Amino acid sequence: MLGVDRQEIVKKVFSKKKGEFFMSQKPVLQDIQACVFDAYGTLFDFNSAVGKYRDRLGDKADQVSALWRTKQLEYTWLLSLMKQHKDFWQVTQDALDYSLDAFGITDRNLRNDLIGAYLQLDSYPDVPETLRTLKRHGLRLVILSNGSPTMLEAAVKSSKLVDVIEIALSVEQVGIYKPDPRVYRLAEDSLKIKGNNIVFLSANAWDAVGAANAGLRVVWINRFGQRRERLPSQPDAEIKSLTELPALLGF
Ligand code: LAC
Repeated sequence: MLGVDRQEIVKKVFSKKKGEFFMSQKPVLQDIQACVFDAYGTLFDFNSAVGKYRDRLGDKADQVSALWRTKQLEYTWLLSLMKQHKDFWQVTQDALDYSLDAFGITDRNLRNDLIGAYLQLDSYPDVPETLRTLKRHGLRLVILSNGSPTMLEAAVKSSKLVDVIEIALSVEQVGIYKPDPRVYRLAEDSLKIKGNNIVFLSANAWDAVGAANAGLRVVWINRFGQRRERLPSQPDAEIKSLTELPALLGF
């Protein structure tokens, strides 16, 4: 159990009645056959692209990275509301160009290096070992992401997860972004497993809420110490790191 006591792990379960999270000692997720992971922010560290070129960005590096991510997500939501679609690779480039422009950065080589780095992201430190543990317990592991198929394939390769990830499902199959419920239903359709036997995992609070809204069982990996979203649905459980997941599933 990765050296962590279950009593510490099985906590922060959302009570629909009370409208808040409460501490629970009971295992919250049983009979799970597949874990469906969000990609960026959950498995892959989107800040690692800027991290590779920190010296060339100087003291603006963190702000550039934060604005790049914010704009990337905003564009997905806006495009979906506008009933328009550009794939995530285009959106990621547009968001980078916005961010560099906002900080007055005109170096085209740096721009090309940064977008190239988005295809070679690092995974978070808790990812490889946890995914291998889950796989050893017979779980099917898949990705469900806004990312285009090419981006996801590149990220799975660069983070050396090819042997554990069965398939990377992309919103491109439905042509609309998260949190449209049609996106989250791709998992059930593609895995041919009943929704009740699937858990969706995301570090993005809004994504966890979106999946819960679509009827999925959800664990929020609150690795960024975010506040919970004030939106109609809530995840089934909240943990701080993926290392807490196996115990939550009863392993
Ligand atoms: C994704 C975004 C939400 O991977 O990070 O779908």
